[in-house]
Amino acid sequence: MRSLIDILELSTAEINELVDTATHILENPAAYAHKCDGKILATLFFEPSTRTRLSFESAMLSLGGQVLGFSEASSSSASKGESVADTIRTVSCYSDIIAMRHPKEGAPLVAASHSMVPVINGGDGGHNHPTQTLTDLLTIHHEKGRFDHLTVGFCGDLKFGRTVHSLISAMSRYEGTRIVLVSPEELKLPSYVKKEVLEKSGIEYIQTTDLEAVMPELDILYMTRVQRERFFNEEDYLRLKDSYILTPEKLANAKGDLSILHPLPRVNEISTAVDSDPRACYFRQVRYGRYIRMALIMKLLDIE
Ligand code: NCD
Repeated sequence: MRSLIDILELSTAEINELVDTATHILENPAAYAHKCDGKILATLFFEPSTRTRLSFESAMLSLGGQVLGFSEASSSSASKGESVADTIRTVSCYSDIIAMRHPKEGAPLVAASHSMVPVINGGDGGHNHPTQTLTDLLTIHHEKGRFDHLTVGFCGDLKFGRTVHSLISAMSRYEGTRIVLVSPEELKLPSYVKKEVLEKSGIEYIQTTDLEAVMPELDILYMTRVQRERFFNEEDYLRLKDSYILTPEKLANAKGDLSILHPLPRVNEISTAVDSDPRACYFRQVRYGRYIRMALIMKLLDIE
């Protein structure tokens, strides 16, 4: 039995397989409509979500399976003081696979160690978010046709942005990756990601506060929301929230084939005027999330 807590638990060969399966599902959805007949997915969301939870549920329903779960901690026994371990022991009696989001870093790892069924990390605090990364990788594959020799800019909240940490880990395994980190001083990439991922893998990276200066180099621009819920005080959030707002003017010197990604939700960091630019991929990216999760559910349930 296998869970997915960190993106690096999947080899690059397995990521290619998932991307191929997801692409095949996209083209032939009917062939997959009964792959999970009789199976149950539980979604345990101790933190708000729109895309991650609903795309997991849509994925399982599209495979012929069923779903149950909760979308806020207050409607589960966590509000009575139940531990994650006990909640998971219970839910793994009722389901075949579990997708879980939790505000505490490491909670899905603890859950996996007490579960009788696979656990998928749907985001743990400011740490990791491996299924968003699979979604991002499927998007990159469809937009660029490759994972290697890409210069990827990450802009916004690189400190608390869990999607950033997971995608940097994933991209660090491909040849010729260059990472450009754009953030205010206070929201720089944590040093553990720099040391354990970028420096360990020998990936070339730069850090800057100036988005426009690096724009011409980028093949991919990964914009992110400033993660309000992880701030200790509102004043800091208000000061930093509008540090970067992507507008058509700021894209003036970008490559013609730049791909703009965003895990969503967007608050203010991409002007809606950018949405009609063909380089804006974030709504196509949302669509891919369902198919890559279908592929992942099948893989973790050992379904051919
Ligand atoms: C992201 C998350 O939850 O980390 N959203 C998502 O899952 N698509 C990004 C965010 O909330 O800013």
